[in-house]
Amino acid sequence: MNQHQTADITQAVLDRVAEDAEPRFRQIITAVVKHAHALAREVDLTPDEWMAAIRFLTQVGQTCDAKRQEFILLSDTLGISMLVVQLEQARRSAQALADSAASVKPTEATVQGPFYWEGAPVLPLGSDIGEGMPGEPAFYSGRVTDTHGRPLAACVLDVWSGDGEGVYDMQMGDEAAMRLRGRFHTDADGRYHFWSIKPYYYPVPSDGPVGAMLRAMGRHPNRPGHIHLMVSREGFVPLTTHLFAADSPYLESDAVFGVRDSLIVPYTRHAAGKAPDGRTMDKTFHTAQYDFALAPA
Ligand code: BEZ
Ligand code: FE
Repeated sequence: MNQHQTADITQAVLDRVAEDAEPRFRQIITAVVKHAHALAREVDLTPDEWMAAIRFLTQVGQTCDAKRQEFILLSDTLGISMLVVQLEQARRSAQALADSAASVKPTEATVQGPFYWEGAPVLPLGSDIGEGMPGEPAFYSGRVTDTHGRPLAACVLDVWSGDGEGVYDMQMGDEAAMRLRGRFHTDADGRYHFWSIKPYYYPVPSDGPVGAMLRAMGRHPNRPGHIHLMVSREGFVPLTTHLFAADSPYLESDAVFGVRDSLIVPYTRHAAGKAPDGRTMDKTFHTAQYDFALAPA
């Protein structure tokens, strides 16, 4: 039968997914077809509206380049990235709960975002990745353990953030060099410390189609101040997360829904003087302390 009525066209498409298609692909494409058709029916979609959606997705693709990923931004601002992170976290927590001897919950993950740049310089503990950058200096320290509370030496902390005005290096044009990025290794006690800046809130890129979508939805584009970290070590599930500054605006309305209570950290303000690593600071600085726990792979 070639003529399909609105009532059966969904089933006609589903019938064309081969029985022997790769099973997970078959499951996902079946759900995509069912939900997309249900959406069209639910809103009684018109051809003009569907063309507008196709034009929008085309623009999203055309806005992507080596340093800009508008599709990730679309996924982030629609909450899909964070939903997928949460589903993965729930899976991991169930595995961790199965280990009755575990005493520490694995650190919560959040979105990676579009500004990760692989290959940040490997630096000695105590280095300052915020030197000369706009923003107030902040000293970060803490420990990485497993879920039994045992310290993990030689973990990699891959750290990145925007500057004290909320701007990332990748937003500074094609010739931009890396800044406010570094990779640190935990010491024999699983401890780390480094200097950067206290992160400031900033808007996600809003000069493209996703920005237009946010405005049409009546939404602001801002993220609360945060520093990104990827914490990894062989034998453990790599953790992609943030630390959020507890006094930042937009903690309640992050444009990408990435805030977790457990990742909100107080930044303690100090007058110029001696810092915890013995450095003498000639201006106001902050300290932020956080311990990470990695789940076994
Ligand atoms: C970020 O935190 O870098 C970010 C995350 C999602 C979308 C845009 C930016
Ligand atoms: Fe960010």
